[in-house]
Amino acid sequence: MLIDLKHLREEYSSSSLELADAPAKPIELFEQWMQEAIQAKLPEPNAMTLATCKPDGFPAARVVLLKGLSEAGFIFYTNYNSNKGQELAANPRAALVFLWLELQRQVRIEGKVEKIAPSASETYFQSRPKGSQIGAAASPQSAVIAGREVLEENVKALELKYANQEQLPRPAHWGGYIVKPTRIEFWKGRASRLHDRLVYVKKEERLGEQQWKIERLAP
Ligand SMILES: Cc1cc2nc3c(=O)[nH]c(=O)nc-3n(C[C@H](O)[C@H](O)[C@H](O)COP(=O)(O)O)c2cc1C
Repeated sequence: MLIDLKHLREEYSSSSLELADAPAKPIELFEQWMQEAIQAKLPEPNAMTLATCKPDGFPAARVVLLKGLSEAGFIFYTNYNSNKGQELAANPRAALVFLWLELQRQVRIEGKVEKIAPSASETYFQSRPKGSQIGAAASPQSAVIAGREVLEENVKALELKYANQEQLPRPAHWGGYIVKPTRIEFWKGRASRLHDRLVYVKKEERLGEQQWKIERLAP
């Protein structure tokens, strides 16, 4: 064994997550936890692990940033031609994990994934600094490249092409996805490994209103 980590053991506090306090909609509890993660000044509180399914059945996971939360779901931005983009085109289902260790909290989300409206991707792309716009346009994300110089040359060419413009046009292959949740689990660390887990599972839509079943799970 190269590193033995068995002695690392964190004791979690007693603050709890109760069914009686759980709001009817999981997005409301998520919003509250995200606000608390921001207030606690955690590094990149909006970083989340995004898991997709590969055609061979293996899962693929990577970290992306949550850039928007709405009643409908969780929005992130990426390159539609990337590995994750190809995986989502073939199978538009994903899982997300947020880990806020300092708050002893984890949120697990499962849902269906859709591209957001091109106009919404446009608005976000135009809000980014020009350097980030160039970076997004310059990188054939997830493609094998011969070396870093490939990116540097792409950046130089784009800087030259758009030297007299404050903005770049949004590349058609860059934009947002929304993960529309069907299941959200909230985990709160408790003493002696008896952690709290509350899961919201989406029921059939009735009268256009989302209904959620809330249950407690064993840790
Ligand atoms: C903290 C952090 C934030 C990231 N945010 C994003 C993001 O918002 N969008 C994105 O496309 N990649 C982001 N990445 C890079 C991805 O983890 C990944 O390397 C990239 O999207 C390619 O993934 P793929 O080959 O599975 O498509 C981030 C990485 C880290 C570590």
